[in-house]
Amino acid sequence: VVESARDLTLEVDGRQVTVPDDGDTLLGVLRDRLGLTGPKDGCSPQGQCGCCTVLVDGQPRVACVTPARRVRGRAVTTIDGLDPEARRRWGEAFLATGGSQCGFCTPGIIVRLEALRDGRDDVPADEARRALLAHLCRCTGWQTVVEAAGRLDRPAGSDRDLAAAATRAGLEGGVGQTVHPDVALGRGGFSADTAPAEALVAVPHPDGGWAVGETLAEARRAAGKVQGRRTTEPHRWPLDLPPGTWDATLRTTWVEPAYLEPDAAWCEPGGEPSSPLANGGAFGAKLASPLPAAAKELADRHGRAVLALFDREDVTRLGPKRPPVAGGARADGSGVLRVVATPGITEVVAAVAPGLVVDAVTVPGPPTSAALRAAGWAEAVVLCAGAAGLVDEVVDPRTGGRARAMVSDGRIEVWVGAGDPLDETVLRSYCIGAAHMAWSWLTAESLAVDDDGAVLDLTIRSFGVVRAVDTPEIRVHLDAVDGPPVRAGDAVFAAVAAAGWLAAGRPPDWPIGAKI
Ligand code: FES
Ligand code: FES
Repeated sequence: VVESARDLTLEVDGRQVTVPDDGDTLLGVLRDRLGLTGPKDGCSPQGQCGCCTVLVDGQPRVACVTPARRVRGRAVTTIDGLDPEARRRWGEAFLATGGSQCGFCTPGIIVRLEALRDGRDDVPADEARRALLAHLCRCTGWQTVVEAAGRLDRPAGSDRDLAAAATRAGLEGGVGQTVHPDVALGRGGFSADTAPAEALVAVPHPDGGWAVGETLAEARRAAGKVQGRRTTEPHRWPLDLPPGTWDATLRTTWVEPAYLEPDAAWCEPGGEPSSPLANGGAFGAKLASPLPAAAKELADRHGRAVLALFDREDVTRLGPKRPPVAGGARADGSGVLRVVATPGITEVVAAVAPGLVVDAVTVPGPPTSAALRAAGWAEAVVLCAGAAGLVDEVVDPRTGGRARAMVSDGRIEVWVGAGDPLDETVLRSYCIGAAHMAWSWLTAESLAVDDDGAVLDLTIRSFGVVRAVDTPEIRVHLDAVDGPPVRAGDAVFAAVAAAGWLAAGRPPDWPIGAKI
């Protein structure tokens, strides 16, 4: 291979490649120039989610903040270039524990853990948890990832019905999902990975409309975006408590759903757009994603395939949030729940807490949605549990899924009624993920929004998702319940939030930052 002054040569997955030396990042070279979609873009150029992790001369690096120039002449290994036997073992280990759900975060995690394993049979739990500090996974709550790292030396077990497992995953995720070793290895079929190589790339322009380029780097340059930072602004409580005498009061603040795969959709001229929900439901947050319509319109306008993408900041600014609340309740279940005005919230709150009067309040802020995981009704369950002084069994008003939860001795325990489990591994994984999300929401998450409603926290680390090393042990007991399979993850989420709030002593403001 002859390298000119304007080219650079490196070795990728054992192959010498030469690409233009145009200042792109290593992730840009891998994905956009070489079409290698194993490394994912969850937050570039923030360098904070770990989804783009690759090995450079055997050491883990986040490719989105590594200039390609810096790896000139060096050996880069993506998930696809790992030893085939190691890939097989990792894929099966994640399948065996349910350690990968949407699978967007997992290739980066596997690359790092494989480097850490360094020829050993597996990776001890403490080491795995520390290694996961460099990653974010929103679906799994970490525990099943750590379990996967500890069972590489064991056969996967072949008695699972993966079609039934996928049905359970689809119920819990809210959209069709695949359960297969390849999902953990980066083959979840994400829109940003399946777009035609010649597709134009479109990103939102800060002044409205779309900036379009031949590559993501070019589109971002055309948008002239300046990346935001984590703000030092404190989070605020957007709503005031309703006046009255209450046995319990509760205020929540803005939080980010923080799904890892940013919205993406592509379309051919005259065609139908791909779905931004390829293998994950984004906890309800992508159901009304504007990207399919944008990809279709742009493809028709340009007469070429177009891949429309949000970056992390776009997701944070433009994506829907669960509406903050401020409420007061009495032990008999009566009370008032103020909630940021959101279509559909009044009905779901009435279904779980008929004694609460819902007072919808319009405040400046990002869009809100009742489609987000247990939005509104989980808050009503928490408030009523606090006023009554106990957490009853929680029943999901939409699905009938049931859950009870206990938080004590640094452990979260949940009992789950989901009808026919279909696949206990997958159901357990989704319940652990929902319990982690509730715990994280309760103890750590917030999003600073200013008085004009602009979101100030724009980096993925600023959302406050609880890390693996800080996650309590989560035990899941599956109740024997006859009947058809139903989604139970949202009931787990509400039950754990309520149990955690009671364990924290029912503080009137959500106990972000408190040790429980
Ligand atoms: S995409 Fe590189 S760290 Fe998130
Ligand atoms: S499996 Fe980790 S973010 Fe979805």
